[in-house]
Amino acid sequence: MAKQPYIAVVGSANVDLTTFIDEFPRPGETIFGKKFDLGFGGKGANQAVAARLCGAAVCMVAKVGSDLFGPVTIENFNSFGIDASHVRIVEGVSSGVAPIFVDASGQNRIIVVSGANDALLPQDLDLAAPILRKADYIVLQLEIPLNTVYHAIHFAKSNGIRCILNPAPGRVLDLTELAAVDYFIPNESEAELITGMPVHSIEDARSCADSLLGRGIRRVVITLGERGALLSGPEGMELIPGFRVKTIDSTGAGDAFIGSFAVFLAEGLPEVEALTRANLYAALSTTRVGTQKSFLSRSEFEQEWKVRGGRS
Ligand code: RIB
Repeated sequence: MAKQPYIAVVGSANVDLTTFIDEFPRPGETIFGKKFDLGFGGKGANQAVAARLCGAAVCMVAKVGSDLFGPVTIENFNSFGIDASHVRIVEGVSSGVAPIFVDASGQNRIIVVSGANDALLPQDLDLAAPILRKADYIVLQLEIPLNTVYHAIHFAKSNGIRCILNPAPGRVLDLTELAAVDYFIPNESEAELITGMPVHSIEDARSCADSLLGRGIRRVVITLGERGALLSGPEGMELIPGFRVKTIDSTGAGDAFIGSFAVFLAEGLPEVEALTRANLYAALSTTRVGTQKSFLSRSEFEQEWKVRGGRS
């Protein structure tokens, strides 16, 4: 049997407070919501859970607050069997929280209050170095300080560990710090914010990816929702088609994509198959309510993969 992949996630942990509504309220308007869901979230934590559910051994490096949410967030990691020995509580600070609004079409709007995530510093990575060094992939997002993200990229490079950066939420980045990233994976709006180029169509995505490659990024995957993902590298570009599903809540779909992709790659699957599988894993997560609780186990996923035969 192939070796179990080991994925290290350095990133955020939040608690998601999700309200389901028919339409978003107008300024000054009060409306009734249809349903409420409280669950664990945060892009980093979600990616760690997706990777774990897909079968990897996973460690998480994060900070949580000294409030009600902090200890239960650590318990949540433990309940999945994720190594949370480097998820630390910061005294006197709130945990990261995310009020989320999901409309009738499953589209979401998210506000993140970073809280303790802002206290994850480069020295925390140095303390976690012994477990990070075991990783096949280090997975990063942008809900923690940028200096910490850049430090993790340098750490990955100097230790010969492959690195995935999901620049979410979109922030202005110093692209010269990203030369050692193996996969740079923004969605359309993140790609747009980072490059200043419009990304409304697949053609736009191609131009944007081309510009990122020209600025020294090794491999770019622009995720395009239902349309799939555009893979770009020095050898050219390929659109990996997505899967059509009945979406009820798209929250966390991008995280499901990243966490599962890291595992499929680390298992040694060819890149295009890893991306096709990640497209399906992410699409299926939108058919269920919630963030982490919408992610499929590996056996549930393999059944779906068999049924769809790798095709949408
Ligand atoms: O990507 C979805 C996540 O974004 C939510 O879980 C929320 O916490 C924010 O981080």
